[in-house]
Amino acid sequence: MPKQSLSRRRFLQSTGAAALWIPASVRGYTSAEVQALYVDGVMQEEVSKWELDTPALCVDLDLLEANIAKMQSTLASNGIASRPHAKTHKTPIIARMQLDSGSVGICSAKISEAQALFQHGIEEILLTTTNVTPTKIQRAMDLRQANASFIQATDSAANARLLSEAAGAMGIEADVVVDVDPGGHRTGVTPGQPALELAQLVDQLPNLTLKGLLCYDGGSQHVKGFAQRREQTLQRLAAATETYDLFNRSGLNNEIFSGGGTGTYNIDHETRGLTDVQVGSYVFMDAQYIDIGGESDEQVYDDFAASLTILTTVLNDQYEGRCTTDAGAKSCTINRPWPRVKGEKGMSYTSGSDEFGTLRYEEEASRSYQVGDKLELIVSHCDPVVNLYDHMYAIRQDRVEAVWPIAGRGMSA
Ligand SMILES: Cc1ncc(COP(=O)(O)O)c(C=O)c1O
Repeated sequence: MPKQSLSRRRFLQSTGAAALWIPASVRGYTSAEVQALYVDGVMQEEVSKWELDTPALCVDLDLLEANIAKMQSTLASNGIASRPHAKTHKTPIIARMQLDSGSVGICSAKISEAQALFQHGIEEILLTTTNVTPTKIQRAMDLRQANASFIQATDSAANARLLSEAAGAMGIEADVVVDVDPGGHRTGVTPGQPALELAQLVDQLPNLTLKGLLCYDGGSQHVKGFAQRREQTLQRLAAATETYDLFNRSGLNNEIFSGGGTGTYNIDHETRGLTDVQVGSYVFMDAQYIDIGGESDEQVYDDFAASLTILTTVLNDQYEGRCTTDAGAKSCTINRPWPRVKGEKGMSYTSGSDEFGTLRYEEEASRSYQVGDKLELIVSHCDPVVNLYDHMYAIRQDRVEAVWPIAGRGMSA
């Protein structure tokens, strides 16, 4: 066994699961070295999370698996399904875990993201965004031709006609859902009669098959306080249920009535007709969601655990009350609230500077850091953070178990 490996093993034995101290004899691994050690799905050497070069995006496998299991068991007892949104993780391996746990499909935000998922073996994809340009419509039809399970959204009559023409030109039949606006006016057609007329058009146009409707109420997901969130959600989704009823009365197919997200996953089943929730963030969680409060704790939303962290290294400890790390805006984004130091109290973190993070100690800080120390950050908002990294390290009990490519990273077109 090479000398370097021996010293690494001693380090692993001596430090234990929660260690932060890195002995000088351990030089650590670069990202390329860890990737090279991950062969045919198996790590060839034991690598501690704390030996990773930083900034590094890490996902705790025990927590990730528990989040997926909790979502599935709650939805099952509430009588609805999950169709998780891959915009959060952009990682085909996680999409596969979700499908294997019982999800009825995977949502995608962009056609390039959907293509990346399909190239990595994910077929049951619902594209929740309407494609409006000829290029994107053509790409969606190409994907549909290759993948009979692909479904796409539309929100206007003009768009539905373009889809029908494009499908006809290729000699294919395309599955379509009508995107209904919950009131935020971001996307979607107005519920009620306008949505019904669009659905009837889709149903009549050649080469299109109506599958149902979508209604994602993004404006309700982060409402603070469970009671307020529940009230707003049910009130705003009532119009979508009326639309669902109109589809029913008109004999239209509404096998899909999809909506909801992480903030409302345990409320959405109260919306009559809703078949599945497009939950995204629950797999990782983030500071934005932790702050909304849950059904059992009005302050902290802890239904799901923060499985996603950024590992960062202290670069400077010379100044009173603060230290500087290597994880700034390019590793954490500048979303608010700022990232949080995992497992510690009495400190705040800001990532406004491009390459540097600033950690400030408050009076009751649980510890202080020295140059070279590593710490973990709970991310501010998981989706854009994931989009900054080519891969994430899958960690179990502080050991690297896998290196997962984020195949949809940068796929925003
Ligand atoms: C259309 C759509 N569905 C589902 C989601 C997932 O929401 P969440 O991450 O809150 O679960 C999003 C997030 O922005 C979305 O835009």
